[in-house]
Amino acid sequence: MTSSTQPAAVGTAPDVDLPHDAAVPRSAEPVLDGPRWLPSTITRTTYWLAIASLISEIGIIVTGGAVRLTKSGLGCPTWPKCTPESLTNTPEMGIHGIIEFGNRTLTFVLGFIALAMLLWVWRMRRSHPSLFWMSFGLLLGIPAQAVVGGITVLTQLNPWVVAGHFMVSATMVCVATLLVSRVGLEWRVRSESGTPPQPVDGPTTPLSRGLAWIVFISGWAAVYLGTVVTGTGPHGGDATAPRHDFDPLIVTRIHVVPVYIMVAAAVLLMIVVLRQDSSRGQRMSTVRVLMVVLFQGLIGYVQHFNGLPILLVLLHMLGAALIVWAMTNALDRQRSTYTARVAEAVEAGPEQMAQARA
Ligand code: HEM
Repeated sequence: MTSSTQPAAVGTAPDVDLPHDAAVPRSAEPVLDGPRWLPSTITRTTYWLAIASLISEIGIIVTGGAVRLTKSGLGCPTWPKCTPESLTNTPEMGIHGIIEFGNRTLTFVLGFIALAMLLWVWRMRRSHPSLFWMSFGLLLGIPAQAVVGGITVLTQLNPWVVAGHFMVSATMVCVATLLVSRVGLEWRVRSESGTPPQPVDGPTTPLSRGLAWIVFISGWAAVYLGTVVTGTGPHGGDATAPRHDFDPLIVTRIHVVPVYIMVAAAVLLMIVVLRQDSSRGQRMSTVRVLMVVLFQGLIGYVQHFNGLPILLVLLHMLGAALIVWAMTNALDRQRSTYTARVAEAVEAGPEQMAQARA
């Protein structure tokens, strides 16, 4: 049995690369539990896996967009197989088959990253449950997305289902953003003594917190209403795809209402945060969200007034993913209650395990 006053048993971590700081607060709880070949601390690899999760979640939004915009949504006409006879696309299916099947294959890349992420925090699941549950959620989201994607195909690209597919992906971007932030803090706490780092590392006020909420909520409203505009517009993913029976101009105007609210709240948030004694991270998060929303709004108008060229629409989808990332970060920097604590390099003995379960 190992106690928390003993030296860290980090020998099981294959890629520990930061010096362990004895001044970092340590818990008496047993926290390491699981196969010894898995890492026992947050390392640089854990951080890069979290970043890879975020990038892959944003990436799949863009590649999914490419499927829709090249009219390849029914490139594989059925699901889970590509055709009733074949698991993969066939040469006769042409470019649409390649694009749709390529996008389906990317699910495995996402799955691989999500599985690695979960394994990299597996042994710390008692001391860092939020890291574990976020990683678990990202992994679970992949089969969930595959099923929603399947329903999309089986409903011949019903626009409400396509919108649901997008919203699940956007939620995964939100979770991955928080995961990157948390893993980054946990990684830092291992090399810094003193106050454990927190996402809220400077003062906040009811006004700044309220504005961050308004940015976040109006951002989600803009994202959702955007999917309704898409469901009404010309890029349904296939020439035969059903469309909403709305007036495209009116739904676009409705889509833009939360955008204006978001821009106004983001400007005010930036002013408030720059005026109070905020940390660099807090300030950057507000500047970033404002920049991204302005960029996204600009693309939105240019695509709207130019007949929705597919490259701009694709850029608008990337912008939507970046909005989710930026607004989640800005809110996290104002509202989070998370505090990093070092992963205990303590092997759990049977007694400690029983205590932890009690
Ligand atoms: C915060 C800013 C904005 C966000 C987060 C946002 C988000 C979105 C999203 C998520 C979609 C749907 C993507 C999809 O389902 O594939 C979309 C579509 C669209 N957005 Fe925005 N948008 C923003 C600003 C604007 C602005 C200012 C306009 C200007 C008119 C605009 C015009 C459009 C149009 C026309 C579509 C439909 C494109 C299509 O038919 O595929 N957006 N937007």
